[in-house]
Amino acid sequence: MNSKTLHKLTAGLAIAVVFSSCVKDENSPGYEYMPDMYRSPAIETYVDYGEVRTWQYDTSLTNRQSALLPPMGTIAFSENAEDVQFNLPYKRLPSNAMIASHSLASLEYNDGDYEASVADVNPLPLTQCNVEKGKELYNRFCTHCHGEKGAGDGKVSMNENINPPATAFKRADGQMFYSITYGKGVMGAHASQLNQKERWQVINYIKSMDEANVVIAQSCDEEAKSSSSIMEAEPVDLSTSLSSLESGASLVLDNLVFATGSSNLDMAKSQSSLDDILTFLKGSNKSLEFDGHTDNTGNEEANKALSLARANAVKSYLVGHGISASRIETQGFGSSQPKVSNDTEEGRAQNRRTEVKIK
Ligand code: HEC
Repeated sequence: MNSKTLHKLTAGLAIAVVFSSCVKDENSPGYEYMPDMYRSPAIETYVDYGEVRTWQYDTSLTNRQSALLPPMGTIAFSENAEDVQFNLPYKRLPSNAMIASHSLASLEYNDGDYEASVADVNPLPLTQCNVEKGKELYNRFCTHCHGEKGAGDGKVSMNENINPPATAFKRADGQMFYSITYGKGVMGAHASQLNQKERWQVINYIKSMDEANVVIAQSCDEEAKSSSSIMEAEPVDLSTSLSSLESGASLVLDNLVFATGSSNLDMAKSQSSLDDILTFLKGSNKSLEFDGHTDNTGNEEANKALSLARANAVKSYLVGHGISASRIETQGFGSSQPKVSNDTEEGRAQNRRTEVKIK
């Protein structure tokens, strides 16, 4: 045996040793010398501890999830009432073709939904605000294929297999939404990158590329202002409410506040209601009746006296400001006319009230 053959033999033997020292089970990752460095011992959201603590599955740990997925059928919270619709599930199912090309195998399908989506209307108006937001998203997710202006000349489209047609954006809004959601041909599904509102905003931006579509000049700041003004409706002035009240009808004066157990008006809280009543009386020749009511706690005689004293306090204020005493009547009903049950604190608070009636 010459030395060359010996070298070959030694090398062969070394290779044999290296291979034979591997574990038989092909799926085993082998020994883990520092498991904590790649298997987090920390309590983490959605982590299955049965799997991560050791490479062998430990079933005694499998149920120690630190967070659970939301229950099926629930809808994510939305800060704005108008945005709730975007958290509802998308009503269209993927078609069989989308299932095959985009691994959506766990979903049901409906081959007619792609065609039917033509009828779906963009719920977002074509405002400058939506267009701007859509543009930002388009540049992040679409430009590299569809090109800046939608001509299908993005950088990725240099590859002859990925060449979106320039006509891609000539489709109806609803159908574009469908294809962005589930993908089309080589274009992937974008439902996990863009939520429903964002998908409609991208469509708004696509629409704005066509100069025939008029963009409403409303910036995001203006939009925020107009929606908050819808939510905070102008409070109706009390003298206006009194003017529209029919004779015999009554109104609870929510903002007439008295010190507890007394007929002293809390002027800081009651001033504006009193002034509104004055304005009404000065501009009209009608007479008013003020009725005091209490809850059912305490002595009923005392309740009656207190409710009358409170109605009289309102009268004195008005008379002190130039209204003839003959135009104002007062009554104290104590707890004899509850509006709601006195069983809860809330109910009792509603029953303690001063009402005004047009005579
Ligand atoms: C990987 C490249 C790629 C990306 C990224 C991409 N697209 Fe596409 N898109 C395509 C191709 C290719 C087609 C043509 C698909 C076909 O008809 O087979 C297409 C088609 C479309 C269509 C027409 C769909 C139809 O029903 O015919 C719309 C609308 C569209 N894309 C919008 C978008 C939007 C919006 C984005 C970004 C959120 C986007 N695409 C991202 C490649 C892409």
